[in-house]
Amino acid sequence: MATATDAAVIRSAVRLRGDLELPGDKSISHRALMLALLAQGESRISGAGDGADVRSTAAICRALGAVVERSADDATSNANYLVISPGADGLLEPEGDLDCGNSGTSLRLFAGILAGLPIRAVLDGDDSLRRRPVARIIEPLRSMGAVLHARSTDSLPPVTVVGRTPLVAIDTRTPVPSAQVKSAILLAGLRADGTTTVREAVATRDHTERMLRARGMTVETEVRGADGEVAVRIEGGTRVQAVSERVPGDVSAAAFWLVAAAAHPDAELTLRGVGINPTRRAVVDILRSMGGNIDERPAASGATERGAGEPTADLVVRSSELRSIDLAAADVARAIDEIPILCLAAACASGTTRIRGAGELRAKESDRITGVAAGIAALGGRIDVDGDDLTIHGGRSLDGATTDSLDDHRLAMTFAVAGLLARGDTTVLHPTSASISYPGFFNDLEKVRA
Ligand code: S3P
Repeated sequence: MATATDAAVIRSAVRLRGDLELPGDKSISHRALMLALLAQGESRISGAGDGADVRSTAAICRALGAVVERSADDATSNANYLVISPGADGLLEPEGDLDCGNSGTSLRLFAGILAGLPIRAVLDGDDSLRRRPVARIIEPLRSMGAVLHARSTDSLPPVTVVGRTPLVAIDTRTPVPSAQVKSAILLAGLRADGTTTVREAVATRDHTERMLRARGMTVETEVRGADGEVAVRIEGGTRVQAVSERVPGDVSAAAFWLVAAAAHPDAELTLRGVGINPTRRAVVDILRSMGGNIDERPAASGATERGAGEPTADLVVRSSELRSIDLAAADVARAIDEIPILCLAAACASGTTRIRGAGELRAKESDRITGVAAGIAALGGRIDVDGDDLTIHGGRSLDGATTDSLDDHRLAMTFAVAGLLARGDTTVLHPTSASISYPGFFNDLEKVRA
């Protein structure tokens, strides 16, 4: 990779080989730090993701009164943390605004935590975060008794939270399937009198539920009916226990290498210790349905479960004959962060792929529907967008061109992978955004180029 001021030039790869340790799962890393903040005493977290988003969460934990020591994990480019906290009842009102940077997870989940604390705090972030919707958390947290305000008639950050203890338990249905909204309400539910219930149309990632159970909380999940509606219940009023845990590799980061290898004619990559939680592994199953040659083996580390009951595996992916697929809104919810890289897989596959009901992609770090369609079109592929539906015409050859990540980490990595697959050189504008979730991404890209 050659880097100009804020551009990376990716050469086409002749072959792809390698064995990669992935960044620690971003979602689990955020939650491990937040739950360590709520637990009185010492918590140790190893193998946490070391991207800018997780660092934003660590800094907010410090601002709320915990000692947070970060050190490098020797074996990988991950981080280890020691958190010493006074526990939820001893947290401090922060002196300044809490800076979530680019991280929607930090903002949404901390809003839920702060709602149940007797303090006032302001959650803010960068220009991208300031464009992301917050009414979806403000409404339920208000109905639990906290006071929240936000910019633009309570729709956009910054968000001011004045908490209340105890909160009122509620029974609510999320307006869109969103693990961030569900988790914000569950974290507030910890500090509520009685049982809080969150219902969602599709089961989103359940790390918060698993990690709370591992810390002594009563959390029940009930799946209802054939349409997969889920109700999650939490009992308030119990203290979160401090634990030590290891974070699994991030399947959302693994997705880039799964597609790179499956779509390349001469490839074999091994991805170590990947989290394959059933609520996160949709990308693996979707790629397999597209013909992706992916083997799943017990993790070589010997531990197939790390930390709070999170299953892991080593994944081996090889060159494949990819075919098109049809994805519905529920598939989009299950593979929400992997849709951009799956669009690239579809562009390299034979046939026409349809993805319906992808509107939530517009509410991410960028408008990912517009961004991915523009990047793939620049490379000679074709994605037709009709409202929130995408039609991806596969089988067209991709030729190196200039693509714009829109400062969105997942688009930066999608277009860099496209650069490995396309003929000639591909330029990715604003590539450093990859370090939001995967700081070692471009090193790994050079490594697998073999
Ligand atoms: C996340 C949930 C998802 C995902 C984000 C991380 C989480 O957002 O896009 O990258 O850690 O809970 P939504 O639940 O809002 O879709």
